[in-house]
Amino acid sequence: MSESLSSTSDRPAILGGQAACPDAWPTWPVHDDDEETRLLKVLRSGEWWFGENVQQFEQEFAAFQGAKYGVTCTNGTTAIEMGLRAIGVVEGDEVVVPPYSFISTASAVVTLGAIPVFADIRPDTLCLDVDDVAKKITPRTKAIIPVHIAGLMADMERINALASEHGLVVLEDAAHAWGSQLQGRGAGTWGACGTFSFQVSKNITAGEGGILVTDDEEIADLCRSFTHCGRTKDSQWYDHNLLGSNLRLTEFQAAILLAQLSRLENQVGRREKNAALLNEALAAIPGIRRLASASQMTRRSYHMAIFRLEESTFGLSRDKFIQALNAEGVPASEGWYRPLYQNGVFQTAHEGPAHGIRAPLADKGVDYRQVSCPVCEQVCRDAVWIPQNVLLAEEAQIENLIRAIQKVAKHADNLRDANLPST
Ligand SMILES: Cc1ncc(COP(=O)(O)O)c(C=O)c1O
Repeated sequence: MSESLSSTSDRPAILGGQAACPDAWPTWPVHDDDEETRLLKVLRSGEWWFGENVQQFEQEFAAFQGAKYGVTCTNGTTAIEMGLRAIGVVEGDEVVVPPYSFISTASAVVTLGAIPVFADIRPDTLCLDVDDVAKKITPRTKAIIPVHIAGLMADMERINALASEHGLVVLEDAAHAWGSQLQGRGAGTWGACGTFSFQVSKNITAGEGGILVTDDEEIADLCRSFTHCGRTKDSQWYDHNLLGSNLRLTEFQAAILLAQLSRLENQVGRREKNAALLNEALAAIPGIRRLASASQMTRRSYHMAIFRLEESTFGLSRDKFIQALNAEGVPASEGWYRPLYQNGVFQTAHEGPAHGIRAPLADKGVDYRQVSCPVCEQVCRDAVWIPQNVLLAEEAQIENLIRAIQKVAKHADNLRDANLPST
């Protein structure tokens, strides 16, 4: 689509026009008097350590997801690690994971001495492709970790069916899926357990923090023990019956999380409403490929809005598209994911890291230089991310965001030919 720049008043901002989104986006994290009151209460009480706030938050968050038990811990990474231990993953086991995720999904497996096996993702959900998972199952496979990327849930019915067919355990990495539901059933409750992150970019945060939810009392008890220096139910204070660590959340963090949780449902609703407006507008733009509409999802957290850019149809490279959107005032990015197996930790796994600590994967017969998940690699080249705080804006700002994308689409030819600085 070519448009003469002299004949239009809506010149792209990067070519000297007015930015479509001049107003500041909602900042993140958010807090109000509720956090302040709760924090001061903890401060003044002197009860700073694992106590009533932590316990209340565990109960409320587990109930919010629809699980019986919640066990908090230091972050989403340690939540995956303790979950894998609790479901019985041991050294040498294989665990199938998607490569389109944050490193912890796979590094937690390695931390246990187990072997991450990468299965590709679906081009429309960016979650595990169950057909590819089936191809990656071997006699050594113990577990599958679906990741609900940006809150869009993996096909849990098929993953669970495959897992039970092969006697595998499912741990959901629901680090982005606070409030997400498939068929009315919360993320984290489809597998044996599910883990969440409360790191500062997340839709509910205490700066850091994590939780594992489960309906299985044994898993919950094991995880509690792992977080609590190996103490078990009813053990004496200096009886450490299991190998544990100290992964406890503080009362300060739990106080903040309780306040954050109280507004989560409203925020999820707002993000969903704004994402629906955005998605509807994107449908009319050739070259923009929306993710699956996820009709089975009854609620979706939208940790970010993601869509894919087909450069040849759209007429502009992703790089220039993002630069043009940034100039319009839209904090779009290419996302920070690359296929996990392309990270140094996996590319050098066969030889062991240079820092002298024996690599858990060395001598295990892996060579991640041979791994390729073509869909994930393509998605890493064409995905566009818009962060969750943008989706908390007023509708008028979302209309501006839509106008910004439409403007860039309309002037794709002009932008392609313009000499923009390469990033
Ligand atoms: C998908 C996914 N899993 C796990 C984690 C790890 O969570 P944390 O940063 O709280 O350790 C993250 C964090 O960004 C994540 O995005």
